[in-house]
Amino acid sequence: MTSRFTGKVALVTGGGSGIGRATALAFAREGATVVVAGRNPEPLAETVELIEASGGQGSAVTADVSNSDDVARLVATAVERHGGLHVAFNNAGVLAAGPVADIDEQDWDRQLAINVTGVWLSMKHEIAHMREHGGGVIVNTASNLGAHRRLPGTGAYAATKAAVSALTRTAALEYIGEGIRINAISPGPIETTMSLLPGETEADRAERAKTTQPIGRVGTLAEAAAAVLWLAAPESGFTVGHDLVIDGGASA
Ligand SMILES: NC(=O)c1ccc[n+]([C@@H]2O[C@H](COP(=O)([O-])OP(=O)(O)OC[C@H]3O[C@@H](n4cnc5c(N)ncnc54)[C@H](OP(=O)(O)O)[C@@H]3O)[C@@H](O)[C@H]2O)c1
Repeated sequence: MTSRFTGKVALVTGGGSGIGRATALAFAREGATVVVAGRNPEPLAETVELIEASGGQGSAVTADVSNSDDVARLVATAVERHGGLHVAFNNAGVLAAGPVADIDEQDWDRQLAINVTGVWLSMKHEIAHMREHGGGVIVNTASNLGAHRRLPGTGAYAATKAAVSALTRTAALEYIGEGIRINAISPGPIETTMSLLPGETEADRAERAKTTQPIGRVGTLAEAAAAVLWLAAPESGFTVGHDLVIDGGASA
């Protein structure tokens, strides 16, 4: 077992499922105490059980990242429970597909609120703590559909993820002088429910990926988590304001 994060407290939003859960487990395997956050308590509790079952330490906080009071409470709770906050993975996000003229106004607002305002609020409260406590590391989840490639039917989502990319790079410049290192990941389709088309099975998706993805498959949770851990670890210490595309070549 390696231990790049021994003694560190890591916060993962969207930690109850998908990329967030896989990354929370990976942080815990490498020694971090992990705080997972999301809106629903049950999946968060399951993640904590999985962390503890593999010998790690973690806890859950129910919070909506689009709500400033919730995010303030989330950061404060992580610090109170575990004595600090050194790493944050701002990963919570939602996708509502549809061509631009057909996007429902509520879906537009919801995606902006969670994907953009949620990442901004998370950074705002995390940075406020980190700048007073010796710095830290932040990784945000954007998407290859944001700054890197276009796909019809994903305009609202793409706009939010391009915003995450821009916000990440701006914040990186603003805070690296205070010891807070900020980067993003931009995944292509990863093996979570989010990359399934309506009514599609995992087998259907695998078949579709053979012809639609340059690499012929979707990405694994392990591949996504490994990129986040690298960006959060000291070995990437000279990497600042980078938006790391992990998409099997889709936006190459
Ligand atoms: N899977 C892909 O192909 C792919 C590709 C590129 C980027 N991404 C991005 O990767 C991130 C993780 O997605 P995923 O694929 O792992 O899908 P997922 O399993 O649906 O994960 C999304 C997580 O975000 C949480 N969440 C949603 N709204 C929230 C809110 N308002 N406050 C707090 N938590 C919230 C959800 O939990 P609750 O519903 O319980 O709150 C859920 O755990 C997202 O930002 C997504 O846009 C995914």
